[in-house]
Amino acid sequence: MNGRMAENVRRHIEDLIKAGLANVAITSETAAWLGGLYDDLYGKLVDVRLLNLRAKDAPLHENSAYWKGRLEPMEVVTVWLAIDPSTPANGCMQIIPRTHHNGFSQYQNVSDPESAVFSAEIKAYEFESSKAMDCVLEPGQCFLHGGRLIHGSAANTGTMRRCGFTMRYILTTSRFIANGLHQIYLAHGKDRAGNTYGDPTKPHKAWLDAYPDDQPAGH
Ligand SMILES: [Fe+2]
Repeated sequence: MNGRMAENVRRHIEDLIKAGLANVAITSETAAWLGGLYDDLYGKLVDVRLLNLRAKDAPLHENSAYWKGRLEPMEVVTVWLAIDPSTPANGCMQIIPRTHHNGFSQYQNVSDPESAVFSAEIKAYEFESSKAMDCVLEPGQCFLHGGRLIHGSAANTGTMRRCGFTMRYILTTSRFIANGLHQIYLAHGKDRAGNTYGDPTKPHKAWLDAYPDDQPAGH
């Protein structure tokens, strides 16, 4: 994530707090930004994705590789907000630090597609697995990672749910190439890319029609 994007995320959250749309609470500065934001959004925005990993791996990947052709330029940051405790025991996210400079590694098919959220994984020579770091979070805490960073999560084989809420932020200068299913919202500032934005007060019908019963699993 570059400095400007980080600043935009921070300003957006602070604006929500000032407008009374989020509460300042909890312990750390980050939790104060985002814990209250979650309280406000949860249950109101239908296009919210709650991620509850079942016993499946999310093989190491770059979001940018999956979103290729959807964002131009590929500058996007994910805010992963923990709803439950997120620890190695319930398959917390792992990242490979400093891998955010590429974003389009070589992939291969996973050996057991039934046990994985994705059908492909990054080839092992692209990163040093010994550098993997666990992203351990308490409820209300979050971490932010750029779209190009290599990350993934092991299957949750424990008894504790690992639920998270993800938000993705792009610059208003980034062009979003829509596919009719995903929707973006103008969080802050002025559009400079000719994008079409959704109305956050209304359900995103195309998504609900596509997944009326079971939302796709994330990680
Ligand atoms: Fe991802």
